[in-house]
Amino acid sequence: MTDAKAGLEGIVVARSELCSIDGQKGILGFRGYDIHELARHATYEEVAFLLLRGELPSAAELAAFAAELGEARAVSGEAAQVVDLIARDAAPMEMLRTAVSATSFDDPDKDSNSEEANQRKAIRLLAKIPTLVCRYHRRRAGLEPVDPDPELSYAESFLTMLSGRPPDEDAARTFDVAMILHADHEMNASTFTARVIASTLADMHSAVVGAIGALKGPLHGGANEQVMRTLESIDDPDRVEDDIRRRLAGHERIMGFGHRVYKTMDPRAEILKELARRLAGRADGSEPDWFAMSERIERVVTAEKGLYPNVDFYSASTYRYLGIPTELFTTLFVASRVVGWAAHVIEQHRDNRLIRPSSLYVGPDSREYPARDGAS
Ligand code: ACO
Repeated sequence: MTDAKAGLEGIVVARSELCSIDGQKGILGFRGYDIHELARHATYEEVAFLLLRGELPSAAELAAFAAELGEARAVSGEAAQVVDLIARDAAPMEMLRTAVSATSFDDPDKDSNSEEANQRKAIRLLAKIPTLVCRYHRRRAGLEPVDPDPELSYAESFLTMLSGRPPDEDAARTFDVAMILHADHEMNASTFTARVIASTLADMHSAVVGAIGALKGPLHGGANEQVMRTLESIDDPDRVEDDIRRRLAGHERIMGFGHRVYKTMDPRAEILKELARRLAGRADGSEPDWFAMSERIERVVTAEKGLYPNVDFYSASTYRYLGIPTELFTTLFVASRVVGWAAHVIEQHRDNRLIRPSSLYVGPDSREYPARDGAS
């Protein structure tokens, strides 16, 4: 070995049937279905089924899957206590990293990595994470948690538990599409983390908790919150150009731009941009025009740096228009992506070999242990 590949760029580390990306053309597919088609026609539940089970569900399969998800939403025991205990002091991603771990304590399948056990655990994780996020948010705000309603769709249930009110149809569908877009993305850092953990034959909860830690960073899922913080700090569309040019001149990274794989616009960002544009048209004008600011930022960054928006850029304004608190943005990424992580864990356990790469040693040459006074 003569050199190390920084960031493992371009290294193929697994065979996977889940997600394909053409980074030059900006094409993304889940099990062969183009992301634009899924965003147009599918629900998040259908996409979750597709990723976990291999095919889109029939009507009967979808109804059974949705019922299973609905039944699994409730969070009780230690996990609920953990959320209540840490709600005030823990940041949202710290809460999830801790509370998701606690959901394994009473999971009847926690000691099994069989395909059937993994499928059941995937459903429970998928169902419970929104409940944890909303319970945490309401406890933090001094409000009573809203119990999950097993009859509601994933998106309706999430937004109802968050605000205490059922969302209108448009908000529920917008949220559902955002969840679809985040569901999986090939060998990103958090998915790789999940697969490394699964490859030791550790359990799915351990893999998901590790993946949450990886997603938290601002170079990965943490970027969506940072995008909103940037928009909030600029505050006025007319200040965008000067502000962004100043940041670039100071070698600052503009959050929500650039991607290891896409060399053109991220197709998820294209879809989110249109969602944000539509929501901006419905806004009551009480806040700055987040969409106009975002478009102006995009123009400057693309012109000055040749960088395009990634999934995190327009998800920020989309979530803001939906009334979701900025501090929760990255937890929404977890809520959606957990299905991708779970599907990757299932693939890894199905055909496992320990993931254990090497490093290139660049330390001192072999040397003698120094003699010490009194040492023999
Ligand atoms: N703003 C300004 N400059 C950037 C940006 C950015 N957003 N992204 C990359 N660059 C520049 C770097 O400074 C570097 O320039 P240099 O060669 O002069 O030092 C060059 O582009 C290459 O950067 P790398 O970090 O090596 O590129 P990589 O492909 O590894 O980066 C990454 C991908 C980490 C996403 C990067 O584009 C970035 O930091 N973006 C901002 C954070 C972000 O939005 N993350 C979310 C990614 S999508 C997701 O994970 C869900």
